[in-house]
Amino acid sequence: MKPVIALAELSEGEMTARQVDGVSVLVCHVEGQFYALHNECTHAHQALHTGKLTGHQLKCPLHGGRFDVRSGACQGAPATEPLTTFPVTLEGGKVHVTVTGIEPRATPKFGPFN
Ligand code: FES
Repeated sequence: MKPVIALAELSEGEMTARQVDGVSVLVCHVEGQFYALHNECTHAHQALHTGKLTGHQLKCPLHGGRFDVRSGACQGAPATEPLTTFPVTLEGGKVHVTVTGIEPRATPKFGPFN
């Protein structure tokens, strides 16, 4: 469980992306609740934080696939698979997220640095 953002930093109806343990996590604030999901569309791997959040529905910015941020359920084509969701707790004025079920992306190596 890692603190990812202060409650006051994310207004109602907003979403943002944060790196947690090498994984991009989308944090959404809807109707007083906070949700955390994998910030990668299941259709073509587009980051979702620049999409549109309308109520509990998240729309992918690339092709318009839609998801429910409460469950990750896919609600509209062309995406067909759900998003991975992560457990959220609120503690000390911060949103804490536990990343499970997603492997961090390998860090690209650009040269012999070590
Ligand atoms: S990448 Fe999200 S719907 Fe295609």
